[in-house]
Amino acid sequence: MQDRARMIAGNWKMNNGAAATVSFFEKLGSWLSADETGKGAAAAGKSGRIEIVVAPPFTSLAAAVAAKKSEYIGIAAQNAHFEPKGAFTGEISLQMLEEAGCKYVILGHSERRHVFGETDDLLQKKLDSTLGSKLLPIFCAGELLEERESGDTERVLERQLSIALANAAAADAAKKLTIAYEPVWAIGTGKVASNDDAQGACSFIRSFIGQKFGQEAAQKIRILYGGSVKPENSAGILSQKDIDGLLIGGASVEAESFARIIATAFGA
Ligand code: 13P
Repeated sequence: MQDRARMIAGNWKMNNGAAATVSFFEKLGSWLSADETGKGAAAAGKSGRIEIVVAPPFTSLAAAVAAKKSEYIGIAAQNAHFEPKGAFTGEISLQMLEEAGCKYVILGHSERRHVFGETDDLLQKKLDSTLGSKLLPIFCAGELLEERESGDTERVLERQLSIALANAAAADAAKKLTIAYEPVWAIGTGKVASNDDAQGACSFIRSFIGQKFGQEAAQKIRILYGGSVKPENSAGILSQKDIDGLLIGGASVEAESFARIIATAFGA
């Protein structure tokens, strides 16, 4: 079995303003310190076996950083611009996110790609800038339904990752990068990928990293699955050999279901 620390990450998308963020962390905090299962999760967090990450919307980041309390809960932004500053109305830079207390930034989420038109080339710039910053990227990749049905899943993953990682070094892949496999057809649809399909795609991603950066990077990199993860299906997905964690949308917005998923990550 692998010795990579598990990552359980919640992507809130456009949910939970500052007040809801404070109440989320109050509930999560009391679960981690009062409930027996929560105490197990806290111990797993302290020992470095699991890492909890929450990605609130930009305006809730400060509230999340102030409210999270535990040092093993990392805060992520959901997007960033690749330039450090300038005339980019509506954008936020990596340096601003770092100053706000973020540890991670999600890049290339399918909603950024398919709703907001972010391209592979743009995502390469964002990834390059992130690897040159103090933030750690959680880079998303995944195929559309028609691409899966036409047997193109691996081709799509290879294209997305090879363009994004064209300028990255092996040490970046080994030490800084987390990849999230999120099949677009499974996001917000209730249609979770089967354990075998999720494992197959994550294993393909790990071999791609091995071919490009060598075996050390392939063994160290964390690969997450995302798409309709719920407390009822998380244990099965997490039991797959190449899946090191989860990127959860809808079921991460409320503290209770997020906590129930965290519980499955350390075998409770
Ligand atoms: P759901 O868990 O709501 O399907 O969303 C997954 C996702 O997009 C996480 O980034």
